[in-house]
Amino acid sequence: MNKTSRDGFTSTFGVLLATLGSAVGLGNIWKFPSLTGMNGGAGFLLVYLLATLLIGLPVMIVETMLGRAARANAITTFERVAPRGQWWWQIIGWMGFLAALFIMSFYSEVAGWVYAYVFKAAAGAISTTDPKAAGATFGALVSNPVTSLVWQWVVLGLTGSIIMLGVAKGIEAVARKLMPLLFILLLVLCVRSLTLPGGAVPGLTFLFSPDLAKITPAVILTALGLAFFKLSIGMGCMLTYGSYFRDDQNIPATATRVMLADLSVSLLAGIAIFPAVFAFGFEPAAGPSLVFMTIPAVFTSMPGGTVFMTIFFVLTAVASVGAILSLLEVPVAILSERFGCGRKRASLYTILAIALVGAPAALSQSLTAETKIFGMNPFDLYDFLSSNVMLPLGGILICLFAGWVYGLPQLQKQLGNDGKLPNGVLVRAVFFLVRYVSPLLIGIVLLHGLKVF
Ligand code: TRP
Repeated sequence: MNKTSRDGFTSTFGVLLATLGSAVGLGNIWKFPSLTGMNGGAGFLLVYLLATLLIGLPVMIVETMLGRAARANAITTFERVAPRGQWWWQIIGWMGFLAALFIMSFYSEVAGWVYAYVFKAAAGAISTTDPKAAGATFGALVSNPVTSLVWQWVVLGLTGSIIMLGVAKGIEAVARKLMPLLFILLLVLCVRSLTLPGGAVPGLTFLFSPDLAKITPAVILTALGLAFFKLSIGMGCMLTYGSYFRDDQNIPATATRVMLADLSVSLLAGIAIFPAVFAFGFEPAAGPSLVFMTIPAVFTSMPGGTVFMTIFFVLTAVASVGAILSLLEVPVAILSERFGCGRKRASLYTILAIALVGAPAALSQSLTAETKIFGMNPFDLYDFLSSNVMLPLGGILICLFAGWVYGLPQLQKQLGNDGKLPNGVLVRAVFFLVRYVSPLLIGIVLLHGLKVF
């Protein structure tokens, strides 16, 4: 396949927005607050920050770089950049294909809850600050097998149609708009949450004053998994987006900007949620339901709450679309480029596969609630396997490849855009991190977190 026939992003700014569109999503609004609440707050946040800077950012940089160097999907990329005969690096791509299906299986369900909440918000059905009432509404939604499945299908149908339109048109157009609005709305929420009586002090203490005793190996693994999940790395997603990057795109700068913007959205979500948790007497460790109960409560306690609440869930739904498109792009690019089945059919097969694999996850609070594998229901299992096992494993392999096979001269050439950008100490730092630090740290965290030791 020749380079010019591939679809790609049309402007440098478009690249930044699409990459940001992949990173920012339910991970910020839903996963980050739930995990922070369940894992004890500030200590978890601290480990997550360290994991993002020391491991996430360098992995993101080299993963994107590999995709742009090869200009291909996650499997073909390793066929092109690995030395002849070292076919096993392609496992990264195959694992990414599987990880995309697993992540989409639960991600599409959570997106479905968000869509459902758009209508509930508009109807005033979730305007309450009472933890009991809020919990009952959420419980009724997720424990109904029919609505659970239908909302998942709505999400898959919608995003599947967008992906069929193609990279530049579909992804860029959606990612470009509306995100600044979500940011502003989150800021407003933070102000309201912080001014709730009795909220600010315990909320901020929970979020920013670490209790080191709570940092167990399992907590560290979860934080690492979140760092990968947030930056969309470890399974070929950033690699696939990198393959659409322009030759003059500054990859390290783009990755750093996306990382910082993504972090600020998560922190805003945390500051919007935790003061309200304490002000209204919610349970910080409530898990996946946390956001769906506390955010409506904050809106309810402010003027025009119903309108803003509706807008908030619409924007969150939009944010989830950008992330979902990037997830779908991994299998779609693999199927269409490697199996020549055309973008439309590749999208259709991908969506059908997710509907199949994802159904048990959608039904995790109803029909499959008692189906436990390793003590987890399908929803939790998919999340755990993908975020905490496959993404870190993929991350190790990507680091080992970039650090030991691809090597420093290639890294300098690729990250320095063939001499057009400075490629000195920063590239060396990335090289050092991916060659020695990240694979070792990820390996240790993975083995301890999975209780292999
Ligand atoms: N980063 C997105 C979020 O936080 C989710 C996501 C998109 C993702 N692409 C990914 C997660 C690839 C892991 C791998 O919502």
